Amino acid sequence: MFDTLDDVRADVARRLIQAATDWKCAMHTPVVATPDADLRIMVLRDFDPETWSLRFHTDSRAPKASLIGDGSPVGVLAYDKGEKVQLRLRGLGRVASEGPEVDAAWESSTNFARRCYLGEGPGTVTPGPASGLPAEFEGVEPDDEQLIPGRPNFAILKVELRELDWFYLAHTGHVRAQFVREGEGWIGAWATP
Ligand SMILES: Cc1cc2nc3c(=O)[nH]c(=O)nc-3n(C[C@H](O)[C@H](O)[C@H](O)COP(=O)(O)O)c2cc1C
Repeated sequence: MFDTLDDVRADVARRLIQAATDWKCAMHTPVVATPDADLRIMVLRDFDPETWSLRFHTDSRAPKASLIGDGSPVGVLAYDKGEKVQLRLRGLGRVASEGPEVDAAWESSTNFARRCYLGEGPGTVTPGPASGLPAEFEGVEPDDEQLIPGRPNFAILKVELRELDWFYLAHTGHVRAQFVREGEGWIGAWATP
């Protein structure tokens, strides 16, 4: 169980690892918040327990990409109803569309997922309901060569976590713990729910 703060921090890491790798996991699609008080669901693609960094994929033309830019506070909220655990995470977000990590993320994506980056940028106003995709790719998976123009529109959002808030719902009384990053380590404390 969660008798110590170390148990809790290990639980946060374990949940984030699972959330990034298991699409059926409730925490696979957390809410991501930007400093303009806007929120959106994003797929969690990776969690690095060494650096406590999350990776998301997004469109470099999206409003949140320019808002976050090279360093901006980002919040991440995830809730697993079955496991009765809420995670509220805060960190420093950075969006990048070039570099080896972005190339690797692009290469690891399916052509179907990469197809999204061939269309109009997110938020483009359209005369009616529209995917924004070029007509030839509506319902069609592009091949590698056809995807080349989409690559500049692809970006990763890295969030280096600085604060963790773990909340466990229990009949016997809810339990909550908080952690703040200090150097390479974490300072933890129990808190009332
Ligand atoms: C289940 C689900 C998963 C999504 N995954 C992503 C994602 O991984 N990356 C992303 O940029 N948007 C994703 N979206 C769309 C965003 O929620 C959002 O609508 C879009 O990114 C535009 O947000 P913005 O205007 O803040 O840039 C997803 C939406 C849903 C419903």
